[in-house]
Amino acid sequence: MDETSRFAKKNAGILAADKVKDGMVVGLGTGSTIFFAMEALGLRINEGLSIYGIPTSYQAEFRARSYGIPVTTLCEHPTPDLTIDGADQVNPYFQMIKGRGAAQTREKVVAYSSKELIIVIDETKQTKVLNTLVPLEVLPFALKPCMDAIIEANGMPTIRTGQKKDGPVITDNGNFIIDCDFGEIHEPERVEDKLTFIPGSLSSGLFTKCISKTKVIVGHADKAVFVERKV
Ligand code: 5RP
Repeated sequence: MDETSRFAKKNAGILAADKVKDGMVVGLGTGSTIFFAMEALGLRINEGLSIYGIPTSYQAEFRARSYGIPVTTLCEHPTPDLTIDGADQVNPYFQMIKGRGAAQTREKVVAYSSKELIIVIDETKQTKVLNTLVPLEVLPFALKPCMDAIIEANGMPTIRTGQKKDGPVITDNGNFIIDCDFGEIHEPERVEDKLTFIPGSLSSGLFTKCISKTKVIVGHADKAVFVERKV
């Protein structure tokens, strides 16, 4: 991560952490931007803030614990007050693509369960039209039919492979990730539905159903701002 991006992400994370109120249950997304929010929350906890966090991955859980954020689960708190999470691309309508970190299934469960969602991104993640790879978590058993269904839906599927592990990435849920190239996605809701209905698929990185409760913070090198959603 270069310095400009680091400051942009940090500014976005800090502004999101400012919105957390005492007593809240907060969904904690995965990735580098939300970590800055967690770091800021850790500092506020040292000063007396009392919250619980619901991590969306092992990585988020380890980080939350390291910052002293008490963790809980959706069993104890099925409706978190707020979730803070990052994204890979966000369009002007706040439809987005997530899942670079292969955590989109738990991220979607927590985000969709929450009363409110704050997405923290740096300015490079804003796009007019979504066009980056859409990750899809699938059961290993269903890999081939899922790949075929993606091709049928005009996507180009690639099995995600590990960086320091040979072979496929295994998610926190024990599954595979297929990265789907759809080129420019002009109807993200339709594509999300198509992927969701493939038997053996769990969750795609397309988030199109939680727009009304979503706020987006865009971080820049010197500030962070809430942006208006286009209607
Ligand atoms: C992980 C995610 C992340 O939230 C998304 O990739 C953004 O990550 P970062 O804040 O590191 O850029 O969806 O599955």
